[in-house]
Amino acid sequence: MNRTIELVKTIYEIKQLEDVDAPQIALAGRSNVGKSSLVNRLAGRKALAKISSKPGKTRSLNYYRVDPDGYYLVDLPGYGYAKCSKQERIKWAKLIEAYITGNTHLKAVAVLLDARLSPQKLDLELTGYVRGLSIPVIPVLTKADKPKQRELAQLQKQWQDILQQDRPPLLFSSKTGKGEEKLWARLGEYAGL
Ligand code: GTP
Ligand code: MG
Repeated sequence: MNRTIELVKTIYEIKQLEDVDAPQIALAGRSNVGKSSLVNRLAGRKALAKISSKPGKTRSLNYYRVDPDGYYLVDLPGYGYAKCSKQERIKWAKLIEAYITGNTHLKAVAVLLDARLSPQKLDLELTGYVRGLSIPVIPVLTKADKPKQRELAQLQKQWQDILQQDRPPLLFSSKTGKGEEKLWARLGEYAGL
């Protein structure tokens, strides 16, 4: 299918949040996990989402509209950037919380997880938080071009046990395009297409 992804809205503060009357899937993940690269790969464009040389700099929510499907991918600011101040972290958490809680159009949160790393504390906190709100988690192991197949399979099993899901996490590589079609299918499934 010929899909397009356009950035239609950027939000920096809670007071800018407004109800978007269309299905939404949020993208979340630690800084540097490959979120922007994933958006660019799905969009088939190199520079739609900025791949920043300064990780964790962006503190905005970016709304990308997927057409002709008609749902939104909402890129949440990366978390866990060591150099950001406590005040910034609190502001980030409050913005995310305001976006997530009570948003009936939010169908799932795609949590991006670095395929090269064992489950990290911040990843467990985020997935726990989202599951606690009864919002489905779509786990995606990014940079899947890096580890060996056996290591990937182990990590998939580990995350599947943690999240207690009947399917293993998706494998994705922005570099090779691995897992792209499966991710589209999964997003569409949760967006209610
Ligand atoms: P922040 O915006 O800082 O939170 O980071 P991000 O999650 O958007 O990560 P970004 O897409 O900017 O990528 C971070 C680094 O990982 C860059 O150097 C990318 O080139 C690299 N990277 C992203 N995806 C992949 C991938 O699939 N494979 C490999 N090998 N490298 C990747
Ligand atoms: Mg980014």
